[in-house]
Amino acid sequence: MRFSGKTILLGVTGSIAAYKAVELCRQLKKEGADVHILLSEGAKNFVQPLSFQAVSGNPVMENQFENWHGKEKESKPEKKKEKNGNAGMKHINASTADALLIAPATANLVAKAAAGLADELLTTTLQAFGGPVLIAPAMNDVMYEHQVQHRNIRRLKDLGYAIVEPEAGDLACGRKGQGRLASSEKILARLESLLKPQDLTGKTILITAGPTREYLDPVRFISNASSGKMGYALAEAAASRGADVTLVSGPTELRPPANVKTVYVETTTQMQAAVSKAFKKTDVFISAAAPTDFTPDTPSKKKIAKDRIGAIAVKSTPDILAWTGEHKKKNQVVIGFALEAPASIAKARRKMKAKHADAIVLNGPENLASEKAAGTLIFAKNQKKLAKTSKLEFAHTLLDALVQTDA
Ligand SMILES: Cc1cc2nc3c(=O)[nH]c(=O)nc-3n(C[C@H](O)[C@H](O)[C@H](O)COP(=O)(O)O)c2cc1C
Repeated sequence: MRFSGKTILLGVTGSIAAYKAVELCRQLKKEGADVHILLSEGAKNFVQPLSFQAVSGNPVMENQFENWHGKEKESKPEKKKEKNGNAGMKHINASTADALLIAPATANLVAKAAAGLADELLTTTLQAFGGPVLIAPAMNDVMYEHQVQHRNIRRLKDLGYAIVEPEAGDLACGRKGQGRLASSEKILARLESLLKPQDLTGKTILITAGPTREYLDPVRFISNASSGKMGYALAEAAASRGADVTLVSGPTELRPPANVKTVYVETTTQMQAAVSKAFKKTDVFISAAAPTDFTPDTPSKKKIAKDRIGAIAVKSTPDILAWTGEHKKKNQVVIGFALEAPASIAKARRKMKAKHADAIVLNGPENLASEKAAGTLIFAKNQKKLAKTSKLEFAHTLLDALVQTDA
């Protein structure tokens, strides 16, 4: 059971998706968690506390002033006694919970959390809570695209909260767009990630992600289908385990994870420059990017006319993995990715040796833009097949292996 022995605070706010939180609560319980529900004022318009009480098996917390001057105690003398014993935060001492999950989180909650408001039990608990926090926003797509949302979500990430972005699809308001609460599977995977042991504390990890672009002229470029999802998942996983993470990212559509320093680049030469700048202070370098291997020999300063594009002469771009392998000190670890079609362990091993890498992840082109990944993790003396899972889980398995080899 994934959440065995864990106490999870589940905050629910007034979104049309609030009913999905009942199912989230059920799944958390099924996976072994002790779940305590905090309902915002808005949430009570959408779901009844009784549903959550029945599913979680715990009383629902809805009002921070209840029990301090609540009427119900008048008729319950035994609770009055409790009050004398300072049972104001009666059901659970929030600070001892393992994580706080807010799902769904309204635009209102996101704004209040970003501004530091503590106007009700959920927002007060958010500020009083010192453990990992995961926020899953859900709202209409136009609201989600509003720049105030981008600003507030950026602020939440800066405050160290993890965010699970809403998904695109049909919305309750009849529109199609990004705003649907992320799937329970995604939310629980992210929560599990946040609860991992802090076994990378003190480690500095440098990760590259995404494709690079090599321009033929000011508007056209050579690139590849890398989505950057693997590198971003690795960055998130490493940061959630306490590492100090720098992510050097080529152009992607992804938002940077919380607690990660992200450096944006466009070309392979820029990626190489960013890596060489950060490499000295790095304990572990993971090359998950797909830098474009070649660049036009003589890029044109002006847009080339359609009828003048003939054969394109190219030259090699810097080999970033080889550079790090060459420059690494004894205590530094370098891990590369090898995309081979068909998969060839022997070829991947040759690449590992040629680039002086400590490990290579062999994977196929089907992983490139996918949400999932599979592959083989190859070390000098052994190798391990990694089954197809979400990229986040794949990233954790890779980091587990890294920790076990005492990198
Ligand atoms: C039918 C209906 C559905 C709503 N769905 C959402 C939603 O999905 N996301 C959102 O941010 N606000 C939504 N709202 C608006 C919030 O309920 C409103 O901002 C409320 O003040 C939120 O309170 P809370 O953040 O304390 O829960 C909805 C309102 C109504 C009437």
